[in-house]
Amino acid sequence: MPDYDESRANFSWDEVEKAFSWYETGQVNMAYEAIDRHAETWRKNKAALYYSDDERDETYTFQDMKFLSNQFGNVLRRIGVEKGDRVFLFLPRSPELYVSMMGMLKIGAIAGPLFEAFMEQAVRDRLENSEAKVLMTTPSLVDRVPYNELPHLETIILVGDGKAPEDDQDIQFYRYEDEMKNASRHLDIEWVDREDGMILHYTSGSTGKPKGVLHVHNAMIQQYQTAKWIMDLKEDDIFWCTADPGWVTGTSYGIFGPWLNGTSNLVRGGRFSPEDWYGTIEKYQVSVWLSAPTAFRKLMAAGEAVTENFDLNSLRHVLSVGEPLNAEVVHWGMNAYNVRIHDHWWMTETGGVVIANYPSMPMKPGSMGKPFPGVEAAILDEAGNQLPPGQMGKLCIKAGWPSMLRTVWNNEERFNQYFPFEGWFDSGDLASRDEDGYFWFQGRDDDVITTSGERVGPFEVESKLVEHAAVAEAAVIGKPDPVRGHIIKAFVALKDGYTKNDDLQEELKQFVKKGLAAHAAPREVEIRDFLPKTRSGKIMRRVLKAWELDLPTGDLSTMEK
Ligand code: WT7
Repeated sequence: MPDYDESRANFSWDEVEKAFSWYETGQVNMAYEAIDRHAETWRKNKAALYYSDDERDETYTFQDMKFLSNQFGNVLRRIGVEKGDRVFLFLPRSPELYVSMMGMLKIGAIAGPLFEAFMEQAVRDRLENSEAKVLMTTPSLVDRVPYNELPHLETIILVGDGKAPEDDQDIQFYRYEDEMKNASRHLDIEWVDREDGMILHYTSGSTGKPKGVLHVHNAMIQQYQTAKWIMDLKEDDIFWCTADPGWVTGTSYGIFGPWLNGTSNLVRGGRFSPEDWYGTIEKYQVSVWLSAPTAFRKLMAAGEAVTENFDLNSLRHVLSVGEPLNAEVVHWGMNAYNVRIHDHWWMTETGGVVIANYPSMPMKPGSMGKPFPGVEAAILDEAGNQLPPGQMGKLCIKAGWPSMLRTVWNNEERFNQYFPFEGWFDSGDLASRDEDGYFWFQGRDDDVITTSGERVGPFEVESKLVEHAAVAEAAVIGKPDPVRGHIIKAFVALKDGYTKNDDLQEELKQFVKKGLAAHAAPREVEIRDFLPKTRSGKIMRRVLKAWELDLPTGDLSTMEK
């Protein structure tokens, strides 16, 4: 019998607190609850982490994780890291990433995970804004870090083999392996306040640089309970979350939620291929699997011929998040895996799932599900009034759920913009609710683009494009795509003296790819004589989008003629 039923609708978050050791001791730390607490019970010899990639295949018990993260906590303390300092991770998936994340939390530092595909501009923006003191990276990725131009950065810890950069007067370089060798396995954990900062995830809006969304240790309440009831985690499960820890899914559910429940996490490094993924499920007997619509669509495209070559019978529960999950994919999943794929909804800012299809509830394919017990969600109009069932409006969440963002780093004003109506968080998504209380996603209320499950702010891409010598102006939109959800399409106007040609279009794609990140690069570039603008000079992305998709352009009264 699944753990969730409707009677739990009356549950209160206060009850969840009893699951943690701090309920008794008053001493709080996420890493203690996720790792050490289990290492002090029979679970000490249970696998916390199965890690594999093309070269490595390793298992770490909760006890291993406890000692290794203690060692790393000591390394950071010796370097001078203190509570509240930002320590960033710019690493490919590897056991060291998970060990060091736990180590930094144990000493009260704020972790800042960066996606390994970020290029220089993306890395720079995040380290600059957070004023990070320490960065962990590899000898090859360090090339993308402009460390001499980051005044707050003091130390770089290099993980793995490879040539280290020359000594530098501004930066102290250390080798992870050397430091770990000399570090004690015993550590006095820094007990923190539940409201102390824990993790900073940078995410994009429609304007401005990426924002640092701060989550605090208290987020564990939500992450624990949602992992239990939505991911339906049980003692013997092998849980595989395919998301990279550079994104919030890869931390809230790739690390915290499962470990808080004492569940074994599987992490697979390397690139996606249907054969590799199915082989991974078969080899590790994955029972609960969390991925994204874009991956399921690619697997669907690969066809049953591939599925049939693998034994996927270990799968008990499958989940999808990040973009709308087409009803077609849900139906295909029932055939291919003999399970329903459960859609659920949340975002970087919510820190944990807030709307979901639970294992036990009747599912409506195409719907994101219902609010989690203890969460109130509503569809509001422009004035903040609740709309009746069936009407589309702003998807808002009643402020105060445990894992809500606590601030936008160094930008209180931007934080306040999330709360345009007294007491409500505005997600920026448009949705509707039906008579039965199920929520249906409609789209974004702003220009934010979701491409292959990753959130990209048009402004970041536009800013990069206008750095190119030939570009006078740029505007970026999301264009619907059957596999990727959306692709990024850029419209550019050229500077005098430059002319339109195919090489230039290709060059601009590469320019963004090498400067920002591959997933942020436009797949289409259209060169235009001019871009539509308001009289105040603001480029009108919505008009370009309407032209591109043959949709009505709406009110053009503010457009410059
Ligand atoms: C945006 C948040 C879910 C955490 C990882 C992404 C879109 C998310 C769904 C869904 C339709 C979804 C929304 C949201 N989104 N889940 N089930 N159906 N759209 O977090 O990068 O902060 O992106 O992803 O537009 O606002 P994120």
